[in-house]
Amino acid sequence: MKNKVYTAADYKKMVEDRLEQFFVLPESDPMRGYAEAARYSLLAGGKRIRAMLVLEFCRICGKAPETALDVACAIEILHAYNLIHDDLPCMDNDDLRRGKPTNHIVYGECVATLAGDVLQAEAFGTILRCELPDDARLRCATQLANAVGFDGMCGGQYLDMIGEGKQLTAQQLDEINARKTGALLTAACTMGVSAAGGTAQQEKIAAQFGAAIGMAFQIRDDMLDVLSSEAELGKPIGSDREENKNTYMALLGQEECERLVLKLTDHATALLRESFEDTAFLEDLASNLAKRKN
Ligand code: IPE
Ligand code: IPE
Ligand code: MG
Ligand code: MG
Ligand code: MG
Repeated sequence: MKNKVYTAADYKKMVEDRLEQFFVLPESDPMRGYAEAARYSLLAGGKRIRAMLVLEFCRICGKAPETALDVACAIEILHAYNLIHDDLPCMDNDDLRRGKPTNHIVYGECVATLAGDVLQAEAFGTILRCELPDDARLRCATQLANAVGFDGMCGGQYLDMIGEGKQLTAQQLDEINARKTGALLTAACTMGVSAAGGTAQQEKIAAQFGAAIGMAFQIRDDMLDVLSSEAELGKPIGSDREENKNTYMALLGQEECERLVLKLTDHATALLRESFEDTAFLEDLASNLAKRKN
């Protein structure tokens, strides 16, 4: 199984097919509207990068990627919750996501908030109920909780919000981005290792790789908010400026952002090559993310 090659399209299909099975309710069920709101954001497309990282790290640690499929779905479910809440009027106040109206535009703020809540709970439930051995489930759930909680994504979203309109230093911005974006991408890598029953050393390198591509990912995201188009990005352009966000584009300018993204990506792939075999998929993924247009 270790030698079977998977493409990004293979992984995406595996994940999309499995995600289809969440929040399915019969026509007559009074909870159907709630399930629809959750499914709207969960199945709205998306690159599924976090899921791919889980699946591929599981594979390079010697287990079939299918072993980690529910863990991969869990992180996409969690990510969907974060995007719904991130777009709310009280947060970034955005009306377009993945090329479609945001959840609160379609279902209203109250249902959108509750859709985010239920997606977060379901993410943890999906890990806890999956068929991995107990120690792997525990490791994955703990890694996800750490990545999302106070020192992770939620903490980063808080710092991002209270930093609006203030001039932060590069170090403060790094701290925000490591939490709001880097933590979940890092967890995607380490959860793949954990699902495969990988070693502490593999987990350590996976975490370093995830942190580096996570930082590059947010720098690129900040660039696209200025340089892309709504049609290509599937999100509003200029949202960061409108909300007086601190961004790498505003702080460092385009050229320095481009240089940093490449440097972080090179660092990430070099790390990986030193410690793992068969790293072509992850190297390609990192390099495509550095050039991504959406
Ligand atoms: C968007 O993440 C939020 C950030 C961390 C910048 P993605 O760019 O991975 O969003 P989708 O899942 O592909 O829509
Ligand atoms: C990215 O923040 C990290 C999240 C927690 C969603 P952004 O607010 O820049 O993400 P987008 O640009 O809305 O996807
Ligand atoms: Mg935001
Ligand atoms: Mg946003
Ligand atoms: Mg952004």
